[in-house]
Order: sequence, then structure tokens, then C-alpha cells
Amino acid sequence: MENNYKLPDQNAARMRRSRNREAEQSEYSMPETLRQCGKGRTYAIRTYGCQANVRDSETIAGLLEQMSFTRAENDTEADVLVFNTCAVRRNAEEHVLGEIGNLKPLKLQHPDRIFALCGCMAQEEGIVDLLLKKYPQVDIIFGTHNLDRFPQMLAQHLQEGRRQVQVDSIEGNIIEGMPAMRSRRFKAFVNIMYGCDKFCTYCIVPYTRGRERSRRLQNIVDEIREFKASGGKEVALLGQNVNAYGKDLQMKDGFSTLLDKCADTGIDRIRFYTSHPRDYTSAAIDVMAARPNIMKALHLPVQSGSDEILRRMNRGYTRAHYLSLYDDMRSRIPDITFSTDIIVGFPGETDAQFEETLSLVDHCQFDQAFTFIYSPREGTPAASMKDDIPEEVKKERLEILNEKVAGYARIRNEQYVGKTVSVLCDGPSKKNERIMAGYTEDNKLVNFKAVSVKEGDIVPVKITEARSFSLNGEAEEGDVH
Ligand code: 5AD
Ligand code: SF4
Repeated sequence: MENNYKLPDQNAARMRRSRNREAEQSEYSMPETLRQCGKGRTYAIRTYGCQANVRDSETIAGLLEQMSFTRAENDTEADVLVFNTCAVRRNAEEHVLGEIGNLKPLKLQHPDRIFALCGCMAQEEGIVDLLLKKYPQVDIIFGTHNLDRFPQMLAQHLQEGRRQVQVDSIEGNIIEGMPAMRSRRFKAFVNIMYGCDKFCTYCIVPYTRGRERSRRLQNIVDEIREFKASGGKEVALLGQNVNAYGKDLQMKDGFSTLLDKCADTGIDRIRFYTSHPRDYTSAAIDVMAARPNIMKALHLPVQSGSDEILRRMNRGYTRAHYLSLYDDMRSRIPDITFSTDIIVGFPGETDAQFEETLSLVDHCQFDQAFTFIYSPREGTPAASMKDDIPEEVKKERLEILNEKVAGYARIRNEQYVGKTVSVLCDGPSKKNERIMAGYTEDNKLVNFKAVSVKEGDIVPVKITEARSFSLNGEAEEGDVH
């Protein structure tokens, strides 16, 4: 029976080489025979990790709805429950394994409930092996390159009741035309490229998401135009390294060309995640500065302030390069906001090297920083580097860094008090139904009082108070669009 399994092969993923040619493209179409499979049945999806997963979950939901499943009110009551997982750090994996472990009694009570696992954990040999041996409640495992296969696997499981495993370790074609249930009406994630060719030594993503492949420019622009025509206000362009967009399509400075074309659609707001300091070009900064609908907020992960650590991370830039890029952007786009990612406790990081990260933060005074303790990932080069830093020291470094980051975030936020900023309303705040929440153009979270503002409105808000991670304010109603 197990002959039907297609198991992950991390060695194959590791041996892949960027072929630097255009990815083949194909068009998705769901076979008629699958379209009624889900009639009378419900589904739910739990999503972990980055925006790429959020976007994939929208596609998975779209596929399930095309099969006539409907969304469950409560995910523990769903007939099909999908875990779309993240493998970037060990604690994210442990969390998911814990949740799946908790489902064992539910499965015994309701053997016909179906549990599926996909995303980056599904690409790991060790995890799939563990699931097959110790987690019999998981019925379907499909990889990041196998979303299009999920309907078939699900139909087969419904018919035969047998476990299904399909994980390709080498990416296939770019598949256009997959259905999507967008999670928001006014904001959309738009994939511009898939995969990563950077091979930072700590990171598992190049092995779980395959080589860099760019979607064709026209497909991206058409998706944004359609979204705008349906009332959409904001798009976030997604890729592990958006600055490498178009390299495989033989485009010269593909990312700045793409930004320009996306701005031409006239959509109110364009963001992009994630940038890599290595590939950033001057032309991309020019387009960002020139086009008002490209938001002046940049997420530019630095990871470390030490040249030696950056070298051992294989980041491909120096501290001086990062700082000159940062200074250049600040001078060309004075009102830009910056966020970053930082790892502490990389194998062998000395106190002096950690101090260099702190001094870089002092220079940049980031608006926001996502900080992590290094987590060894099996199969990556850093996992076999000597790591003799005690856990206590790593925790202490994280605390020191977080305190510094929060201090600067607050100082940056205090500059907004008394100013009026433009906010795209996301709806009522999570904590208080009577307060609305939304983001400014430069990506600050604002909680604000309003009378008649609705989700999707772009509204001027006067800022009354600054916190470390958000702003408070009052809508100046009457000028909503
Ligand atoms: N350990 C800790 N943090 C990591 N990241 C990626 N891999 C690891 C790891 N093994 C962080 C990086 C990256 C962010 C998405 O996650 O900072 O930018
Ligand atoms: Fe991982 Fe580095 Fe690629 Fe980011 S750029 S996904 S950190 S390998």
C-alpha cells in the first residue's frame, strides 16, 4: 500500500541547482468528477508561518470550495481539517505536532473526520517519517509543490479510506488559474515568485520551497487589475526575495519594472515582502520614491550586525553594505519606515559580535524588528556548525535586543502624535469591538475611534497616543473614500 506514497527527499532538494531559466507554466482546471465530492461536508484550515502560507491556504480553501465543501463554523467540527505548517523554527513545529497529537481522541470518536498536513513541515523527511509512524490520525500529507494534487488525494481518501502522501522535493511548473478564497475583501496577497536560491546557512526554506521561479509579469498585473475592479484597495506582492524577481525570465532589473507596472494599475496601496539587501537596486529605490501608491515601508532583514556572522550565514553582504543601503533609502525617501529580522545566538556568536548587532540597531532605529533565537534545522549547513553558546546566554541576548528594539519603536511612534495619517480600515479591533483598527501607508497599526467608518474605507485619522507597537487615534470622518 505504501507504494503509493511519494515521500520527501531532502537530498534531492539539497542537490538542486538554479537552472536560471523560465519556469514552465500550466493552467489549472479541476476535473468534473471531483466537483461534487464535498457536498454536505465542511472544511477548516489552520495556517502557521509566513504570508506565503496564508496565500497557499487561500488556494486550498478555493480548491475545497470548488469541490463543494463549505467552511465549518468551528474548526474542531470540520469534516476536513488542514494544517498548513511552517518549518522555519523548531518551536513552530513542536506547536503543530502538539495540536495534531491533541486530535487523537477526536479521531477515535469520529473516524470519518479527515486530517491533512501540508506546507513546509511536509517537505521534511524526518517529520513525514514521524507522522507516518506515530500520528495515525493524519490521513493526507501533501507538499508545497503539490497543492494542485490535493483534490485528487482527498477524493481518493474519501473513496478508499487509505492514507495519501504526495510530496515532491523538486518544484514543478508554475500553475496559474487555481481558485482562491481570499481572506479579506480589500487586501490581497499576490505571489510574484516562488522559492529561494539564497541558501542562507541557517534556513530551511530553499529546501522546502524549491528554486526561485517568477510568475510572468502580465499574470501578476492582471491579478491586481481584477482585484481592484472588485473593490480591492491594497496588494502585498509576495516572494522570499522579491528583489530577485525576473532574473529567471531574463529581465533586466525585473523588480523595479514590475513595481512600476503594478503602480500603473492605480490600486491605492502596494506593499512587498520580503526584500533581500543583496539584490536591492538603485532603480527599485527610484520607483519606490516616485510612485505614490507604492507604500513607503520596507521590511529589510539584516539578521546580524557582525560581518563574520553575516559571512557564516552566507548572507552575501556586509554590515557596511546594509548600512549604506539603509542610509541611501533614508535620504532618498525621507519618510520611509523600516522593519527587519534579526537572529541571535547563531553558532559561535561571541558577545562582541552580538554587540555589533546592537550597535547596528542603534544606527537604524527600526520601526519594528522581528527577533529570533537561532534554531538548528536539520540538513542545513549551520546545523553542523559548532554551537557552544548556552541557552541562557541566547535568551539573555534576545531580551536585551528586544528591550532596545521596543525603545526605538516607541520613539519612532511618538513622532506621529498630533499628526493626521491615512488609515485603511481592517474592521473592529481584536480587543475592543467599538474601536476600529487599520494600517497607515507606512505600515503602523492604528486603533481609532470612529462612528461610521467601515472595513475597507481609507480614512484620515488624527493620532492621539503612541505605544511601542501601535498608535491610538480618532477618525476625522467626512473625508472617507
Ligand atoms: N532560526 C531562527 N530564525 C530563523 N529564521 C529563518 N531561519 C531561522 C532559524 N533556523 C528567521 C530569519 C528570517 C525569518 C523569516 O525567520 O530571521 O528572516
Ligand atoms: Fe531563508 Fe535566506 Fe532565502 Fe530568506 S533569503 S528564505 S532567510 S535562505
